[in-house]
Amino acid sequence: MRIYHSKRFLQQYLNKVKQGKKVGFVPTMGALHEGHLSLVTNAKKSCNILVVSVFVNPTQFDRKEDLDLYPKTLDRDLDLLKRENCDVVFIPSVKEMYNKNIVAQDFDFDGLDKVMEGAHRKGHFAGVGTIVKRLFQIVQPDEAFFGEKDFQQLQIIKKMVDKEKMNIKVVGNPIHREKDGLAMSSRNMRLTKGQREAAPFIYKTLQKAKDYFTIHEIIETEKFVIEQYKDHPSLKLEYFTIADEKTLTKDASKKSGVSYRGFIAVFAGDIRLIDNIELG
Ligand code: PAF
Repeated sequence: MRIYHSKRFLQQYLNKVKQGKKVGFVPTMGALHEGHLSLVTNAKKSCNILVVSVFVNPTQFDRKEDLDLYPKTLDRDLDLLKRENCDVVFIPSVKEMYNKNIVAQDFDFDGLDKVMEGAHRKGHFAGVGTIVKRLFQIVQPDEAFFGEKDFQQLQIIKKMVDKEKMNIKVVGNPIHREKDGLAMSSRNMRLTKGQREAAPFIYKTLQKAKDYFTIHEIIETEKFVIEQYKDHPSLKLEYFTIADEKTLTKDASKKSGVSYRGFIAVFAGDIRLIDNIELG
């Protein structure tokens, strides 16, 4: 497994070995878990050369303490990637990706970034778009893999690739869950024992919402979920929204032919957890 810190050397290497081979790319912020590894496995199945990046991107964090406390487990990440037969790991510094100008570019994502995560984390998707675009320009992958836990991010990256006319297939992978249903996330590492025990409640409420939605309207289902968190001792609901999975817009009432998804963000102390569920 080759490790690069410099974009120039990475590009030189990829240009040398590419020669008609298919390059797969999994961008990450490290602190890898089974969800990331399933992206790696999928990418390995359909591509000849696999590149994984590990970079905690400062411009996508709206809270400094969230950036500072983001888990960092590089040695373990590298062991896991070696075990998965990853070919290349790219670990740039902030200077390598941003030089001295640590700011995000402006994008027009046709409104996909104005709701849910975008509405609650100002500038988040501009930061994500900026770094993913730069990484795509450096790695020039044929296929790039993202988890559906960040479903809104996945739609936004597809939109960016489309608008920037990048010749990259963006592949979404289903959410990986712990046995008790908690969506895998690097942030789970920061949960205290008590918070970890409480956190599976998030997926339980999503499953209940899915059942409820079969015979209730959008607004009723949203109210139903909000109610579940009203007196919760350790989880604080930030939002639960039901939206059209393609446009991420909200309908006043159910429309036939539209696939709906429920999106949730919950705080356990200062740790923000997100999840989503297909509602049909
Ligand atoms: O999903 C993530 O881990 C990050 O948002 C990404 C796509 C690696 C960009 O920093």
